[in-house]
Amino acid sequence: MRGLPFFLAVLVLLKIEIIVGVWRYNNILEDENLFTLHNAVFLKYDGSDFVEWEYPECCNVNNKSSPNAIMKCTSPGFQMVKPLVSSPEEEEARYLFISDSFFSFIWYAVVPIDRGSTETSAKKVRMWIIDPEQAYPAEINNTALVPSTQSRYITKHFYNNGQYPVIKLKSKQTHLGHFQKDGYWEAVIPGDERFNDFHIYGQPISFQHRFVIDGQHTFYWPEPAEPNGEREVSLRLAPGSPLSLVWGTCELYRGLLLSDTGALITKNAFLTSEELMVDPGTLPVPPEGYFTVDQAALLEDGIIFRIDDALYWRDNQDRVLTEHPQLPTSGVMGIYQRTCCASNYPVQDVELSSLIVWKDNLLLVGPKQLKNPGRENFLKIVLKVPPRVTYLTASFGSHPASLATLVMYSVPGAIPRNFLTSYNELVPSWITSTFMTKFKLKDIPKGPFEMRFLESADASLLLWNKETILYSFHNDNEWGEIRPFNASHLSAAAFGSKIHQVALDHSWNMLVKMENNILFYCKVGMHEVVRLHKWMEPDSRMVLYLNQKEQINMLTLTPEGLHVQKYPMMMETKSAMKGSYHDCPFISFEHSMNTISYNMDKGDQMVQWAQIVYPEGKGVHVKFLSNNADLLYIEQKSHFEGVNSVDTVNTTFIISQKVDYSDATSYTQLTKKTSGIVTLELVPNQIGNTCNLPMSRISHFNVGCPPNRHIRVARPWGMPCEMHSLTNYTILRSVLRDPQQDDIVVYYDWEKFGCLLKTHYKNQFLPSIDLYDGDSYVRNVDANFIVWDRFGRKDYSFNATMRQVACLRESQTWISMLTGGKSLEEAWGPENYRTCFKVSPGKLGNLDQPYEIMNRSSKNFLTFSQVDSATYVFNVKILDPNYSFCDLHAVFAVQTYGITIPKYQHLTTYVAIVFTLFSLCILGYSYCRYVTIFRNLLATKRHKYE
Ligand SMILES: *[C@@H]1O[C@H](CO)[C@@H](O)[C@H](O)[C@H]1NC(C)=O
Ligand SMILES: *[C@@H]1O[C@H](CO)[C@@H](O)[C@H](O)[C@H]1NC(C)=O
Ligand SMILES: *[C@@H]1O[C@H](CO)[C@@H](O)[C@H](O)[C@H]1NC(C)=O
Ligand SMILES: *[C@@H]1O[C@H](CO)[C@@H](O)[C@H](O)[C@H]1NC(C)=O
Ligand SMILES: *[C@@H]1O[C@H](CO)[C@@H](O)[C@H](O)[C@H]1NC(C)=O
Repeated sequence: MRGLPFFLAVLVLLKIEIIVGVWRYNNILEDENLFTLHNAVFLKYDGSDFVEWEYPECCNVNNKSSPNAIMKCTSPGFQMVKPLVSSPEEEEARYLFISDSFFSFIWYAVVPIDRGSTETSAKKVRMWIIDPEQAYPAEINNTALVPSTQSRYITKHFYNNGQYPVIKLKSKQTHLGHFQKDGYWEAVIPGDERFNDFHIYGQPISFQHRFVIDGQHTFYWPEPAEPNGEREVSLRLAPGSPLSLVWGTCELYRGLLLSDTGALITKNAFLTSEELMVDPGTLPVPPEGYFTVDQAALLEDGIIFRIDDALYWRDNQDRVLTEHPQLPTSGVMGIYQRTCCASNYPVQDVELSSLIVWKDNLLLVGPKQLKNPGRENFLKIVLKVPPRVTYLTASFGSHPASLATLVMYSVPGAIPRNFLTSYNELVPSWITSTFMTKFKLKDIPKGPFEMRFLESADASLLLWNKETILYSFHNDNEWGEIRPFNASHLSAAAFGSKIHQVALDHSWNMLVKMENNILFYCKVGMHEVVRLHKWMEPDSRMVLYLNQKEQINMLTLTPEGLHVQKYPMMMETKSAMKGSYHDCPFISFEHSMNTISYNMDKGDQMVQWAQIVYPEGKGVHVKFLSNNADLLYIEQKSHFEGVNSVDTVNTTFIISQKVDYSDATSYTQLTKKTSGIVTLELVPNQIGNTCNLPMSRISHFNVGCPPNRHIRVARPWGMPCEMHSLTNYTILRSVLRDPQQDDIVVYYDWEKFGCLLKTHYKNQFLPSIDLYDGDSYVRNVDANFIVWDRFGRKDYSFNATMRQVACLRESQTWISMLTGGKSLEEAWGPENYRTCFKVSPGKLGNLDQPYEIMNRSSKNFLTFSQVDSATYVFNVKILDPNYSFCDLHAVFAVQTYGITIPKYQHLTTYVAIVFTLFSLCILGYSYCRYVTIFRNLLATKRHKYE
């Protein structure tokens, strides 16, 4: 009797095994833009009980009784498709949204490998247009180097109609394609050692009433992998663990997939992957013959593995697994690698962390490279907690400079309490969030937890365990539990399966993947998830991977190897929400704030807009969220328009930096207080799961000195500028500001001072100053500036007096500024500049002195020594306190000519020479005389003795 229930159970299991079917679909390029009337949909049923496809009348299927059928539709809209099966349980129907888009041609791009080129040299991109339905297999799998006959024909027609492609790089740089006789366009783009990623934009030109879809293309240039050596052993997760995926924080295409059968590494977004093995070096190899890994982090120069509670290092170079002196060897409970690249965050001179490690009572952070010559320790302690407190999890925050940790505080005899506390790397301080206090103690799920913050101006996060997800949006203003319809939590709606992965893209889409491959979807900001159709068998070992193109890929590990498949998320979510109450409160939302970081120097102003279109009476508007907003002045203006019960609101945001720094009691302090990074976010006040939201959501405004901003003195038109014409020159002590014993010799530094501007000594000179960001010209500087000779000359002046420039009181001068005993560099600047154009109580002073401040538009020019031709090396510095956050200064050199050396100087030389000659003559004469006299004397003597 005991055997029967067992037998039945086996039967039920077996039956489930047999009847579990799953169906999927895609198009030839696995591109969501190509579900159109022009393109075929490939339907695929996996399972043994297939009978035939059920599909609408307006669609054709090539063989409805084949589990791999091809469908083409003739009218647009949702098309219900469903496989009919022999088993009693019905298959899910899908509503495939087939659009009548005119965009159905595709830009094809290929970068032929040029054997002669070096790795970093520029790359040649070939581009042509393909019709996906008629393309050659090599064009489909992106291996074609020249167009097929059909593609060449289409491309030629487009070319004749005026089509041409423009490549836009991540840096916003654009490159035009030039048409070649071989039937493709070619463009040269700057090389990158490992990876190229660009968009191709075409012109709005059609052929046969069909247009070309703009597209993103990525190319990888991985170094060839070295074969694994004999000593090398594999790394595995604990038996039965679900797959685990990590990727390079700023290099999404570098990935590491861990499984209980081995580790796979890729350098090209899983186009290819190899098994990752390590040389155990001096470490003892466990008896199983492999290392059992808990977690991994991909740094730029190697990989960190957490094995038990220790961290190990595998260097990219020698591939030996070692206990690194910089890594803790015990007590490590978890590591978290930054998921969103922070390299666009406009912070200067600070490297934000990429890794968090929590260990015993310490929370540590580390940068993106372990080997960092400038750094003493790889890991830095940011938080130390008392023994009663335990770290539960940690993650990087909504702002790139923040991080947070969830801790548990246990008091003997009481229920442990959890706290979320966050830290800012730029202004080191910890703040405890109210998040955990919002929930009743009994409602707080049990760990282990994982946490992820969303990119936002306000702190917004998701916290999950194996069963459910808690959320807190907008600095704890909205919080709760993310729930599926009709179920208490996610696990309950997925037959008790556990949460495996929470994947987020940049367009606010969130996918929750359960261990049994059930997927839930919602827009970030919503608290109800939608269960999606089954796409993958429950027992497949699968993990979601978001690539550079923001496409969701499903990585499936089978005994044969790794399969990569694109998942048409938008089609699937549309289908799953068809006919449900999920909707979007607006029709469209777009905005202009599409750059990740902007620079705001003093006085800068910028205009951004956001437009939202919605059905009348929905009360939708655009919210403008920001942190640190007091650093910027933001004015909003809305333009409203209502047509046919559709309302359009276009809100303009005038963002400006408006602070007056003149006459500040402490300029430095005020500058510090009014600079920093502001994160702004543009969001509709209401969203829904079916909304289309733009990719860019936040922008960082760097209120401060833009990187590489500097000034240069322009060479006046027609003025000669000499290079390397001297090595040194002498400044007479009589023309030095500080009296010296001797004349000084100045060695001219051509690198630093640049060329020598040659001008006649009678000419007046007004330096023209240009502002640059790196090597790009910004504008001509119209602010006040001062100049001074670097080596202390004072034999130059200014041709305007204070009275001539209309000063209302005596202006500042070098003499007045230098009284404090400060150096020339420090004595005078924006921090202590006071204008003379304001009346002030007290004495008027002498207005007939030269005015020593210059300006592009003033009539005040430099005048040079009228006594001697001279060489000046001038420092120039912007004086206006409201001009820039940057310390703007430059050097220029002037050499005057035209003075013949005055007569008295000639005379002195002449006299000296004459005197010398005279003395020499006398000397010579006396010598001759002496010799003669001596000879005569000798002769007389000899004569005597003879
Ligand atoms: C249609 O598909 C079925 C099942 O694969 C196959 O047996 C049949 O031969 C196909 N019919 C045609 C016309 O190709
Ligand atoms: C791509 O297509 C070509 C031509 O059909 C074929 O020879 C090649 O093996 C394919 N490559 C891949 C990676 O599928
Ligand atoms: C919104 O208004 C701004 C400025 O008034 C304008 O430049 C922008 O094009 C408008 N947006 C749309 C979508 O019309
Ligand atoms: C200065 O330069 C001249 C000519 O180049 C050279 O002859 C002289 O020795 C230099 N003087 C010093 C002090 O180096
Ligand atoms: C200074 O010299 C410049 C150039 O020669 C001249 O344009 C300007 O008027 C002069 N300024 C005064 C105040 O004389």
